[in-house]
Amino acid sequence: MRVLRSMHWLAVPHDSPQLATSEFKQFMQGCFPLLSNSDGSWKCSRANRLRDLDERLTAILLKQEVQPRVFMDVGMGNGISTIETIHCLERAGLAVQTIATDRNLVGYVVRVNRHVDVLAEENGHILLIEGPGWDLSPYCERGDYLSRRFFVSVLKQGITAWARRQVAKRGLPLSSHPAAEAGHPGSVEGPFLLVTPELKNRPDVVVRPDDLLEPLPADLAGVADVVRIANVLRPDRFTPPQLQQVAVNVRQRCRDGAILLVGRHKGKTGERHDTGSTFFQAEPGGFRVLERVGSGSEVERCFASV
Ligand SMILES: C[S@@+](CC[C@H](N)C(=O)[O-])C[C@H]1O[C@@H](n2cnc3c(N)ncnc32)[C@H](O)[C@@H]1O
Repeated sequence: MRVLRSMHWLAVPHDSPQLATSEFKQFMQGCFPLLSNSDGSWKCSRANRLRDLDERLTAILLKQEVQPRVFMDVGMGNGISTIETIHCLERAGLAVQTIATDRNLVGYVVRVNRHVDVLAEENGHILLIEGPGWDLSPYCERGDYLSRRFFVSVLKQGITAWARRQVAKRGLPLSSHPAAEAGHPGSVEGPFLLVTPELKNRPDVVVRPDDLLEPLPADLAGVADVVRIANVLRPDRFTPPQLQQVAVNVRQRCRDGAILLVGRHKGKTGERHDTGSTFFQAEPGGFRVLERVGSGSEVERCFASV
């Protein structure tokens, strides 16, 4: 399946029977696992990745006899974990309003020629290049340049640089590009919301852009009963001052008493021992550690000292 020619799947509403078809599953499997953001993080969530943490969160809320109203999933990626958490809470009788956010949520498809399509972020970062029978994700591990994969990495770099030039020629950022508005064939389509359609048109879900390193949008202040930040705050991507800034920003989102989960899923196995996460409770002026999973979040200290 040419996923970049099948982007209409992203517009299907959550209650459509089409989401049960094998074509939809094929699209989801082909599209998201390859997309790496410009900061090196992956857009993809895998099914069941946060299942243990969902169950633990639900148990904490039930134990505290709290009926949460607003769940905020920050750094939602493609939203697959978000919908699973919503379902887990619903099963426990804890229906919530969800605000799901991420720094970058959209992509544009540039039809470079009859054979090649490119998916790019608004800032020109290339997410995926696709041709007949092949696709290329520009992501390279640092180690690739030092290993036998060196030549593949150099080739990838060359093709990505070419794609970047093609995209730039069509005028990124694309939102004001006339060809995009006219739906000009062979040119630009989008923006596409790069989020699972399982969240689309749900009356209980708002999906919106939100950068943890920017000042908090006024309408998000003090609204959340539960905040989750999973697989976002890696110490190799955020400096200590940035983590401190994020902790303050997150505290501003919480009502007093809100539960915060700062989670990390490290492995691919989905086993309990792969998680290093901390549940906090928001108190006036800061956060208190409630529970740890494994050895706790590796950035726990930043939140405990807000
Ligand atoms: C690996 S995904 C995590 C997806 C999901 N939370 C999960 O665990 O399945 C990491 C996400 O964090 C987002 N992210 C990175 N920096 C961010 C920031 N400063 N503010 C908001 N989101 C950010 C990235 O865009 C990416 O989608």
